[in-house]
Order: sequence, then C-alpha cells, then structure tokens
Amino acid sequence: MNQPSTVLVTGATGTVGSALVAALQGRGPTVRAMIRDPARQIADAENVVADLTDADSTAAALKGVDIDIGHTILRPNLYLQALLAFADTIAEGWFAAPIGDAAVSAIDIRDIAAAAAAVIMEPESTGRTYTLTGPRAVTHQQIADALSAATERPIRFQSVPAEQFAAALAGVLPPWQVEGLVEDYATTRAARPRRWTTPSLT
Ligand SMILES: NC(=O)c1ccc[n+]([C@@H]2O[C@H](COP(=O)([O-])OP(=O)(O)OC[C@H]3O[C@@H](n4cnc5c(N)ncnc54)[C@H](OP(=O)(O)O)[C@@H]3O)[C@@H](O)[C@H]2O)c1
Repeated sequence: MNQPSTVLVTGATGTVGSALVAALQGRGPTVRAMIRDPARQIADAENVVADLTDADSTAAALKGVDIDIGHTILRPNLYLQALLAFADTIAEGWFAAPIGDAAVSAIDIRDIAAAAAAVIMEPESTGRTYTLTGPRAVTHQQIADALSAATERPIRFQSVPAEQFAAALAGVLPPWQVEGLVEDYATTRAARPRRWTTPSLT
C-alpha cells in the first residue's frame, strides 16, 4: 500500500481530530477536514460538510480520497486534556474523582494525533493495534501536588465514591457519558499491574 495523497479527517472540529489535522500538515497529503457546521471551517485544510449519519454526504466527502481502506486500531488511555474538565474546581483549590490512589498514564492528545498521523503515513502499520499511553503512570494526588507546585497555591485532591461523583455530574453531562466516566475510573482503579507503554512510533 502506498502513502495516501489525500486524507479525510472525520471529527475535524474535535479535540483529537483538530490535533490530527495539525499533525498531518507538512507530511505530504492533502488534508480534507469533515465538518458538520459550514461556519466552522478548519484553517489549512480542504473543508467538506458531511455527517456520518448521512450516507450520501459521507460518500461525497470520500470522493477523491485514497481508498482501499485498511484499518489500524489506536487505543489511547485517559486524555491528559480531559483533566481540564476539573478546571473550575481546581481554580477553587480542589478536585475530586473516584480513583483512589490508582495511577494512570494519561496521554496528551497531541501525542495521539502524532501517532495517528504516523500510522496513516506508514501503511505498513495497517492491521495492527497500538495501545497509547503517557510516559509514566501518576496518581491524582501526584497531579494535585504538581498543580500546587506550578500555581504556587494549595490544590487538594479528594477521592470520592463513584455515586457521589455521578451525582455531582447529573444534569451537567448526559447519563451515558457519566456512566462511561464512572466505568473508566473503575477500570483504572482495578488495573494491576499499572501499565504504560514506551513511545515507539515516529
Ligand atoms: N476524553 C478521554 O479521556 C478519551 C479517552 C479515550 C477515548 N476517547 C474517545 O475518543 C473520541 C474522540 O474524542 P474527542 O475528545 O476528540 O471528541 P470530541 O472533541 O467530542 O470531538 C468529536 C468530533 O466528532 C464530530 N462528530 C460527532 N458526531 C458526528 C457525526 N454524526 N458526523 C460527523 N462528525 C461527528 C464532532 O463534530 P461537531 O464539532 O460538529 O460536534 C467533533 O468534531 C471520543 O469518542 C471519545 O469518547 C476519549
């Protein structure tokens, strides 16, 4: 399989998708960004308005894109940027999650995008599955300590029961997303041994 000359990025307005558009810049292919809202044009990309629930618009978005589609599965750990969801309470000096003293190797979304750009441009990775993590696992207490040091203000972490965490998010996030978060934290708490991977994609 040859390197692609045109790549369609779905979710281009999203956290990972927008980072992937940036990561593909300068690597050779024409980058086509799929957007749902025509007003949200992505700079430095060819824009196409389409919705994945609409087969016709999706087919039109794929016109001219290099196909003979293989697949590579990227399995990223917790996004480092997901911690920004705690920004409001961190500003008050605390944050809480149902994670206890379990350590998690959160990954920066720019590293996920770099890995995705690498596998797109290196077709020999087709068919493989990669688990993507940050370089080391840290506890939320260690994150609180790092935030305290960086802001020169005490930031306290409190581990809370899953039910309390879910109740605090009721009405903020849809139920399916709250359930998913609680499940993610439970999985991290149960994970033994604590795992991380060494970056190997370039
Ligand atoms: N947060 C974490 O720690 C974490 C960890 C691992 C995996 N994940 C998963 O990774 C995925 C990507 O995450 P993310 O943070 O990049 O998501 P995100 O910022 O919410 O972006 C989602 C993107 O999908 C687009 N989209 C949604 N429905 C669409 C449809 N019907 N047709 C076309 N585009 C559609 C959105 O477009 P609009 O802008 O138009 O809405 C947006 O660009 C998510 O499934 C997330 O659950 C998250």
